[in-house]
Amino acid sequence: MDRRDFLKLSGSALAAGALASEGAAAIEQPNPSPSTPFAAPPIETVKIAYVGIGGQGSSHVRNLLKIPGCRITAVCDIRDERTAWAAKAIAAAGHPPPAIYSRGPRDFERLCETEDLDLVFTATPWEWHVPVMLAAMKNGKHTATEVPAAMTIDECWELVETAEKQRKHCVMMENCNYGRAEMMVFNMVRQGVFGEILHAEGGYLHDLRAIKFANQGEGLWRRAWASKVNANLYPTHGLGPVANCLDINRGDRFEYLVSMSGPSRGLQNWAQEHFPAGSPQRAEKFVLGDVNVSLIRTVRGKTIYVSHDTNLPRPYSRINLVQGTRGLFQGYPDRVYIEGRSPEHRWEESTAYLAQYDHPLWTDLTSKSEGAGHGGMDYLEDYRLIKCLREGLPTDMNVYDAAALSAVVHLSQQSNAKRSASIDFPDFTRGRWQTMAPLGIVRA
Ligand SMILES: NC(=O)c1ccc[n+]([C@@H]2O[C@H](COP(=O)([O-])OP(=O)(O)OC[C@H]3O[C@@H](n4cnc5c(N)ncnc54)[C@H](O)[C@@H]3O)[C@@H](O)[C@H]2O)c1
Repeated sequence: MDRRDFLKLSGSALAAGALASEGAAAIEQPNPSPSTPFAAPPIETVKIAYVGIGGQGSSHVRNLLKIPGCRITAVCDIRDERTAWAAKAIAAAGHPPPAIYSRGPRDFERLCETEDLDLVFTATPWEWHVPVMLAAMKNGKHTATEVPAAMTIDECWELVETAEKQRKHCVMMENCNYGRAEMMVFNMVRQGVFGEILHAEGGYLHDLRAIKFANQGEGLWRRAWASKVNANLYPTHGLGPVANCLDINRGDRFEYLVSMSGPSRGLQNWAQEHFPAGSPQRAEKFVLGDVNVSLIRTVRGKTIYVSHDTNLPRPYSRINLVQGTRGLFQGYPDRVYIEGRSPEHRWEESTAYLAQYDHPLWTDLTSKSEGAGHGGMDYLEDYRLIKCLREGLPTDMNVYDAAALSAVVHLSQQSNAKRSASIDFPDFTRGRWQTMAPLGIVRA
């Protein structure tokens, strides 16, 4: 029995045998209005601690040093050279030196207990996201994390319950929601260009074999997950943007999922081909199927295909397909088909649509985002986070999005282990998805 089931059971017992509805444990609703997402009081200058300053953390640190109205006042990593790098970058930007925390893997707890901060932002390996965010919120700080926010359903609930109880933001920073193509598609969806959206596809299709076997960076932790979990380990890049197009948690929600993984060959083959006989890498065993495909159905009957494919030779793709009653967009390469506008039965290049449908956030921030990570989208997401905190606005992505998108990891693992049986998503919003206002077209 997991923790959530236990809460449900004890809820039922307290209600003298009445059936507890899902997640009906006695937890206070975070906001009085069912349609208003959580917003905190405005913060003039956002004081930030950065935890985990490796590949992706450094990219966020660089962005934050350029964004007005925030200061990185503390940094934390288990490697001294990374905190030293950050301290140097902060000094070079003309800011006061940060407090440094590098006394081991739980030093972020001391940081959260000691420092006067508004936000703790983490880009640690997956297993550390939840411990860092919980420590932050329990010590009165907002928190943001790299993806996925959590790896189990219990962890997803812990984030939701803690954010509600502490009344803090808990944001999963899904940068692909801010991709230029993804945002253009969202803008087109809002303008009704594709009609009613019925189906979407996304995924993370990226040959990571060399990275997983490297002696640095993600090689130090990411491969280990392939030894213990057979699932869609990294669902949010593909799912985040299309979830916005389908109004997930804001009018609809993920209802159930089925998932299937194929054989595991890619990492074993790579090890045989790249390491000498007798090396430990050659003896490693992996359970992660090289290709995982999952299908999600929403309460409103919409369908989403989401895949994970990181152990085989292939070019990069996130698929990025959004289909409605009047036409569709498909990524990699980006193309559009609109009935009555496109030549019949033929794709058009999506560049033809950019002038008309570029998202205003991109037109506002193109020059500022130049040179930032992942084609500039990382700058846009960091910029929006800081702006929302400074102005006391709801964040673009909230704890319910973090939980629903990350839940795919554990649910796909469960379905896959049960001959692809369908597994229900918890309703992390406890019914508020029905009344929550849809995401608008935000600006800088
Ligand atoms: N959104 C994206 O496009 C994107 C791209 C890359 C990575 N990521 C995500 O960012 C996160 C980090 O990935 P990465 O590529 O930067 O990995 P990385 O290994 O390069 O960096 C992780 C950093 O965390 C530090 N660290 C590890 N345990 C720690 C602890 N307990 N306390 C403090 N620091 C700790 C490491 O020393 C390292 O500097 C992951 O969640 C990954 O999925 C996202």
